[in-house]
Amino acid sequence: MPTRRLVVGNWKMTPATLKEAKRIARVTRKVAAELKHTDVVACPPFVYITAIVLKKHPELMRVGAQSVSMHEAGAHTGEVSAAMIKDVGAEYVIVGHSEDRAAGDTDADVAKRVQAALAGGLKSIVCVGESIRDEAGAYLETLKNQIKNSFADVPKNQSKNIIMAYEPVWAIGAKEAMVPAQVYEMSLFVKKIFSDVFGHGPAMKVSVLYGGSVNFRNAADIIFIGKVDGLLVGRESVSVVGFPDLLRAVDSVA
Ligand code: PGA
Repeated sequence: MPTRRLVVGNWKMTPATLKEAKRIARVTRKVAAELKHTDVVACPPFVYITAIVLKKHPELMRVGAQSVSMHEAGAHTGEVSAAMIKDVGAEYVIVGHSEDRAAGDTDADVAKRVQAALAGGLKSIVCVGESIRDEAGAYLETLKNQIKNSFADVPKNQSKNIIMAYEPVWAIGAKEAMVPAQVYEMSLFVKKIFSDVFGHGPAMKVSVLYGGSVNFRNAADIIFIGKVDGLLVGRESVSVVGFPDLLRAVDSVA
């Protein structure tokens, strides 16, 4: 099990101004400096990356992108390559978010983006999660296929650069997160399938995050009872009030 916790903020298409982006980053970085066992990654929209990357002490708050082109280079209007993201100082990228999948990304597209990200030297935060839960348990099969397909042709030695983010789609942008006991069950399942793909050793080391309606109130229980290695946080990650409390709550779980 990874010894440090990881909290990733997915800022999505917010905030509306560069000024506000800098403020959120400043507040996040300040709290991150107090944390003892928790690493923080902020994933802003592309246009804010250079403004929030820390030149000194980047370990205080790492930066990630929210997507990456599946192409290495070439004529692809509107796309941003892994090499470009890395060159401006970001180290992570979120891949396979359910909002991208809903907009048309297939498992095969996700696999191509994961490959491009890893080849370009970025750590990939790979999102998976079922849209609905049925009583017969078919969602487990869906999740299994999603994980396996997302890593098609990914070299085995890249497992150390992969972070799994389990995000049940029905809990994203919702009122309530998944209950922590279920988070625990599902994170074990994700590790099991990761082990089928990459082997037992890498599965023992991979970080599995939970995402979906995490806030400063439920974060500690999700970490403590859900036994996940960290969190992928949407709305609360751009709250200069809630996110500091969330980070402190995560860091205080023994
Ligand atoms: P939420 O989003 O925390 O606002 O539910 C999570 C995500 O989409 O990663």
